[in-house]
Amino acid sequence: MLGQVTNPTGKSFGSDNHAGVHPAVMAALAAANTGDVVAYGDDELSRRAEQMLCAASGAARALLVFNGTAANVTGLSLMLRPFEAVICADTSHLNVDECGAAESILGSKLLTVPTPDGKLTPDLIAGRLVGRGDEHRAQPRVVQLAQLTELGTCYSLPELRAIRDFCRENGLLIYIDGARLANAVAHLGCSLAELAGCADVLSFGGTKNGALGVEAILVMTGSLAGNALFHRKQLMQLSSKMRFLSAQIVGLLEDDVWLKNAEQANAMARRLSNAIAGIPGIDLAYAMEGNGVFAELHRDVAESLQEDWRFHVWSATGNGRCVVRMMTAFDTTEADVDALAGGLRDRLIHVKQPTA
Ligand SMILES: Cc1ncc(COP(=O)(O)O)c(C=O)c1O
Repeated sequence: MLGQVTNPTGKSFGSDNHAGVHPAVMAALAAANTGDVVAYGDDELSRRAEQMLCAASGAARALLVFNGTAANVTGLSLMLRPFEAVICADTSHLNVDECGAAESILGSKLLTVPTPDGKLTPDLIAGRLVGRGDEHRAQPRVVQLAQLTELGTCYSLPELRAIRDFCRENGLLIYIDGARLANAVAHLGCSLAELAGCADVLSFGGTKNGALGVEAILVMTGSLAGNALFHRKQLMQLSSKMRFLSAQIVGLLEDDVWLKNAEQANAMARRLSNAIAGIPGIDLAYAMEGNGVFAELHRDVAESLQEDWRFHVWSATGNGRCVVRMMTAFDTTEADVDALAGGLRDRLIHVKQPTA
């Protein structure tokens, strides 16, 4: 017999971009929607958004783009010549879930690295440096990290600084995919500038943090900023009605809405992972260090639960078991989490689990 507990709040745990738009962002958009304003970012609000981003992160330049894939491709484009390559985790969003955008649009080879937890280390990067100077090989130039990683883990500042030092010693640049950078800042309790200071170029995600659709590219190393505007335009990311991208950023940065949103999402993920720790038959697959809970359980249980709750089955692990990903967002509530934990408990009791 299948479990009886269903999803009373209807909340999705499928992704943080299943959530709607934060009211502060909506208010900022509405406020921006008055009168005529010069296009392409030559307006007061856009100057303010860039100034706020640079002040918070220490960036030399900040450029807004439409989505996370574009942020990664445009950000990387500032750092690469055609024969240069990007070292990244094999599980990275860049490698798995961007339809080969970097390879197709930039023509750059991705040198992928298997990792236990989505994180690169100096040793893992060093293993990909063979062939440097060999004209037959694509030349590693950029190390691409994600913070949070695609497996929900978070680099500590010492881990990031060790990678940064290694990269500097070895003539490598660092790009950080920061689609969930806010969640990393909230998890580490550090400043945005401390994290951003570990990269040459990085993205700062808005969409998963309560925006309608905007990401920022932060150029930390000033010498890479010179042609950034041309790269963005050629990659079709220059919005003519830029004020509305800028308004979203201002809405998130004013009163630290971005940080409060991330803190709420992280707190709800922590509540869920704590609840899971008390339920037999389900185990955390990776350390919970942000707003993603990755847990291993029997596939039948996951499928039964998916009749009522939305979340992703991430990978199969053998013996009929799988890893699922459950994401929380700025608007996830304790009631949402407690209902899901109740559903899990219920299914694990009622669905007969084959023995391993
Ligand atoms: C880590 C990471 N980077 C980049 C992206 C790409 O964002 P978009 O779907 O807006 O292109 C995502 C989206 O899921 C992501 O999770």
